[in-house]
Amino acid sequence: MTTLIKNGTVVTAGDTVKADVLIDGEQVSMIGKNLPGEGHDEVIDAQGLLLLPGGIDVHTHLELHVSDTVSSDDFFTGQKAAAFGGTTTHIDFAAQPVGGSLRQGIDERHAEAAGKVVIDYGFHLTITDLRDEVMKEIPTIINQGVTSLKLFTAYKGRMQVDDATLFRAMMTAAEHGMLIMVHAENGDVIAELTSRLLAEGKTEPKYHAVAHPALAEGEATARTIALAGIAGASLYVVHMTCEEAVEQLALGRNKGLPVMGETCTQYMFVFEDDLARPNFEGAKFVCSPPARRPKDAPILWKALADNTLQVISTDHCPFWFEGGVKGRVAGKELGKSSFHKIPNGMPGLEDRMPVMWHNGVNGGRYSANRFVEITATNPAKIFGLYPRKGTIAVGADADIVLWDPEKEHTISAKTHHMNTDYNVYEGMTVKGWPARTLLRGKSIVVGNEWRGKKGGGLFLRRRPNAEIL
Ligand code: URP
Ligand code: ZN
Ligand code: ZN
Repeated sequence: MTTLIKNGTVVTAGDTVKADVLIDGEQVSMIGKNLPGEGHDEVIDAQGLLLLPGGIDVHTHLELHVSDTVSSDDFFTGQKAAAFGGTTTHIDFAAQPVGGSLRQGIDERHAEAAGKVVIDYGFHLTITDLRDEVMKEIPTIINQGVTSLKLFTAYKGRMQVDDATLFRAMMTAAEHGMLIMVHAENGDVIAELTSRLLAEGKTEPKYHAVAHPALAEGEATARTIALAGIAGASLYVVHMTCEEAVEQLALGRNKGLPVMGETCTQYMFVFEDDLARPNFEGAKFVCSPPARRPKDAPILWKALADNTLQVISTDHCPFWFEGGVKGRVAGKELGKSSFHKIPNGMPGLEDRMPVMWHNGVNGGRYSANRFVEITATNPAKIFGLYPRKGTIAVGADADIVLWDPEKEHTISAKTHHMNTDYNVYEGMTVKGWPARTLLRGKSIVVGNEWRGKKGGGLFLRRRPNAEIL
């Protein structure tokens, strides 16, 4: 099966060139000017369209079991929504079960994804209980294609690990070329502040932000970077939100440490004041770390542009605002009595590419090439998928988004495909929208039409010793 995409403009991290792209089977086989149009199974006219590498979102939580419920997108609904937004690969998390092995966590996650997947995906491994036998197990998961380990310095009493545990994981990761990912907030400080706020009767959603100060993120980020430096481990700090954290990352990078970071789309658009919206609406925006001050947004945009931050992800972790009704699983309403019971997370997997294009490229904050770099190329390089994923090149998987830079769309929960009843960007009109999404050469979205197939997604075995950018 061959497909020729004619008359488009190919945008990669390095170049913008008007060229035709020939796809043979699942891979790109030729890129050139005026490629012969005869003899192909399909010819797609991309006049006026850009050809972007399919987006890669390296931080998502589909079917995440937390707080007596589960995130509302499963592997089918979440991946389908991703494809409508121009994302063709995501990396989710397999969690070590309490008292269980890493292998068990990965096997259970494969079972949850099986039969539902419609785009390509991988797993990071979340470690919570680093017993000696688990420590020994770490290198064996590389053979299962899982090469990044996630640990938390927050969520005390649940996922939080102490410094010794974090450091031991880092030493082992360094030895085997694995990447350490950390959710960096000081969980002890958060637990202390939460208890005090609750004792004072301060239970509304807005107090979630008060319990999670920016300095607690800055402190944990600095500590985590220092520990990684001592261990010689490569570190990727997830969902960075504020000046206090980003300045620590910049310091570490200036010292030459192999440390990198991401922010998530919502942190440039949602702020702590949103948590104070009336009628419990603030709960929609409760995530950890929390939405910050408006003054942090320009710092994040600049860090994305100047490579202090290498990646934009979503931390997609949707919950119903009105859950537990109409056949829905429980959602944000679980925290009506107190902010500390609100399931943490926001939807965004479908919105990342258009929102970051419109506000980043059209907004003059970075070039189209840098957009490709932070949404696809850098994620592929850092997480061991490049050059199969993350670029448009001969031999690469033909994950291509035909991007219409002129198409306007107003984002709304009424039209999105994510399985949740609100959208963080409700009412935002963006210019730049996917006209067609191809996954390994097959069109899975064409305009508003879904053409993907359950089971069509592929588990990606990732390489260790990925790049430090
Ligand atoms: O609030 C969030 N971020 N929920 C998802 C879990 C995590 O901490 O990444
Ligand atoms: Zn987190
Ligand atoms: Zn997360």
